[in-house]
Amino acid sequence: MKQVTLIPGDGIGPEITEAVKAIFSAANVPVTWEEENAGQTTFDAMGELIPTTLIASLEKNRVALKGPITTPVGKGFKSVNVQLRQMFDLYSNVRPAKTTKGIETRFDNVNSVLFRENTEGLYSGLEMFDERLQISDSVARLTRVGCRKIVRAAFAYADKHGCKRVTAVHKANILKSAGALFLDEFNTTAKEYPHIQADDKIIDNMCMQLVAKPEQFDVIVTTNLFGDILSDLCAGLVGGLGVVAGANIGDDMAIFEAVHGSAPDIAGRGIANPTALLRSAIMMLHHIDLKEEADRIEVALEATLANKEECTGDLGGKASTMQFAQNIISKL
Ligand code: NAI
Repeated sequence: MKQVTLIPGDGIGPEITEAVKAIFSAANVPVTWEEENAGQTTFDAMGELIPTTLIASLEKNRVALKGPITTPVGKGFKSVNVQLRQMFDLYSNVRPAKTTKGIETRFDNVNSVLFRENTEGLYSGLEMFDERLQISDSVARLTRVGCRKIVRAAFAYADKHGCKRVTAVHKANILKSAGALFLDEFNTTAKEYPHIQADDKIIDNMCMQLVAKPEQFDVIVTTNLFGDILSDLCAGLVGGLGVVAGANIGDDMAIFEAVHGSAPDIAGRGIANPTALLRSAIMMLHHIDLKEEADRIEVALEATLANKEECTGDLGGKASTMQFAQNIISKL
């Protein structure tokens, strides 16, 4: 049995987490959950955003499945997600976006994986506000080693999975310093993979290309903020936030989580789509070498998604979160 830390999170987090737990249990996955929460829920209950018991659990288990966590806009606490990623140097944020049979979208042939640098850039936390002059600075710090780690992760993935192309996304025409550093590391690493086509696109052009001809992209690698935005854009191309998975991966720890947030507009109603968290959990099973279990759950999930009637409202169906989970379980 492999022990995994489970962070239910806020909003719809506990609802979709229950669905994933039920599916894992029905599939007899050899995983035991060590449940430790974080975020708004633990802050309200015990005044701690990231309880020390959670940190201890992560340090021990080194693998976690995490529900979404609410972060107040403007003044308020610092994002728990950003803190966890920085605390454990989970520098690779990996987000696959693939067309699914049965989910109606504008395109039927999207299959890309986005690698977003996860600890630096505009999310470095280097923020200053000058009260007297009423000037605010949010510094987008990139380090050479940080750029190197994310581009290397993207090329290594492309190589391992037989991907033909890696595209770097940047704004080096305006952000002369940070953009050049990122591109320099990209071009240096690309030379080690002569069999993979390497090219780069400026972020604004990339957005246009993605909504016009998304099928041309394979692996995409970019800095933190651009990656955050592009991954939601890619989610929109393949069925929305309810269906896209993600992973935060470092050298010796990984936290798997959906791309979406805590969805306060639908929280507590039992109608959230658990697919994104389930797909993240399937990525986790591959990470811990439980491929057979991952494939079995994926086949049952895909068969359920192929029939709209069996799905949740965001996919055009009428099923509740747990009914959807039961529909998957019945196909295992
Ligand atoms: P959101 O992703 O929570 O919701 C955007 C829209 O997508 C909403 O209409 C929501 O109902 C829908 N949606 C999201 N997940 C869904 C699902 N599984 N099934 C069906 N519909 C779904 O983004 P929003 O509203 O901007 O953020 C809400 C909170 O979540 C904020 O506090 C934000 O900071 C946080 N957040 C947390 C993330 C994380 O923990 N990794 C990631 C993104 C946002």
